Amino acid sequence: MTPLEYLAQTEKQRFDELFKFISFPSVSGQPERKADVAACGQWLTAHLASIGFKAQLMPTGGHPVVYAEYLTDKKAPTILYYGHYDVQPPEPFELWTTPPFEAQIRDGYIYARGACDDKGQTFTHIKGLEAVLKATGSLPINVKLLIEGEEESHSANLPKFLKANKDMLKADIVVVSDTGQFNEKTPAVTFGLRGIASTEVFIDGPDRDVHSGSFGGTIANPINTLCWMVAQLHDKNGKVAVPGFYAGVKPPSKWERTQFKKLPFNESAYKKSIGVSGLQGEKGFSTLERAWSRPTLDVNGITGGYQGEGAKTIIAGKASCKITMRLVPGQKPMDICNKLERYLKKIAPKSVKVKVDKHGGARAVQVPIEGPWLEAASRAVAAGFGKKPVFIKEGGSIPVVVEFKETLGLDTLLIGFGLSTDNIHSPNERFRVIDFERGCKTATFLPFELAKVKK
Ligand code: BES
Ligand code: ZN
Repeated sequence: MTPLEYLAQTEKQRFDELFKFISFPSVSGQPERKADVAACGQWLTAHLASIGFKAQLMPTGGHPVVYAEYLTDKKAPTILYYGHYDVQPPEPFELWTTPPFEAQIRDGYIYARGACDDKGQTFTHIKGLEAVLKATGSLPINVKLLIEGEEESHSANLPKFLKANKDMLKADIVVVSDTGQFNEKTPAVTFGLRGIASTEVFIDGPDRDVHSGSFGGTIANPINTLCWMVAQLHDKNGKVAVPGFYAGVKPPSKWERTQFKKLPFNESAYKKSIGVSGLQGEKGFSTLERAWSRPTLDVNGITGGYQGEGAKTIIAGKASCKITMRLVPGQKPMDICNKLERYLKKIAPKSVKVKVDKHGGARAVQVPIEGPWLEAASRAVAAGFGKKPVFIKEGGSIPVVVEFKETLGLDTLLIGFGLSTDNIHSPNERFRVIDFERGCKTATFLPFELAKVKK
């Protein structure tokens, strides 16, 4: 039996297992889901043990890490596979066609929170490795699997875990599938990710909600004020107006610009895919440059005042919003958070109180764009997808990739199987069945391709 035959023969079981994995509401950011996150980690650990890995659930200061290994031959390369079993909050529930943690296949897609990001993608490697193991009785490489439970919460405890377990995690290269293809017809290998800096901004005005007839026009309204302040965060050219925001930021290199221009980017399909009639962003840069190579600032949520039915004429005592900034090489998360705080405090009217919670984040990463490991990964993707991958960057963040380099000295191969239309972090997240299948196939070829690389 070949690994591909094994995949075909175990198809039903493979989907049942994926659906079970998805059924745990492992939302790392919601404290009330702590036990669900742990249960998901336990299930995954037991599953990895059942297919032949030495697996354990390891505590951290936050959610536990699933660690598993299969060591064959000291002379063979050692590959550290990374993924995450936690997911983003499913809310708002009412916008889901079927419940987020009950996976369902419709029109060629698996619908569920985590279907793509990142349970589905992580599972492709688990099933690919299982197929090689069962079909050939062994693996051509040494495998270490590190599947964490708090990537969607900034991987806050993982850097410490890496430092404490350097020996255990010794490897030659890291493999991550938590990114995307370029489009439906074009698989990709990713060579750069943006970083992130996260904050929450609180504006305090009067010490209670007050009647807008009595106080409207006499005091600073916290909601009006917050909205005005948010409007000061960009200039008319779409640049972020926070002083010092671009310090150390280099424009995309000539090589990068040329590389992006070669990609089959279709602007009208891009707009159509999310139902917008036009595009907007920093003047002087193309859409792909804006998304992948330029730093940005976005409000992710804003709160204040009465939101129920009917009228309620108040001036709310408080308003707040969550702001994240996507970073590029040269920017440091805490420095950027500090600059935002300074600017907001400077522009706010004196009569409101401004508080900025600074959560920091992760720096941007660039991984090698050539070399034997990358070529091996490209060959595996080409074999799995029946088409050679293109080289892209992505605008999202995977915080630990920087740490792999700095703490473990390891480069990362970013081979993602998702699509930008998979609704990750949104209602009706999905993963194409065919991409899951091609991902599993890629994952059966990858160990053999990586085994060919001379250490
Ligand atoms: N899988 C994503 C990263 C990603 C998103 C890659 C889009 C390529 C395109 C990852 O799970 C993620 O969402 N990360 C968070 C990290 C944050 C919470 C620190 C992100 O980018 O928002
Ligand atoms: Zn992810």
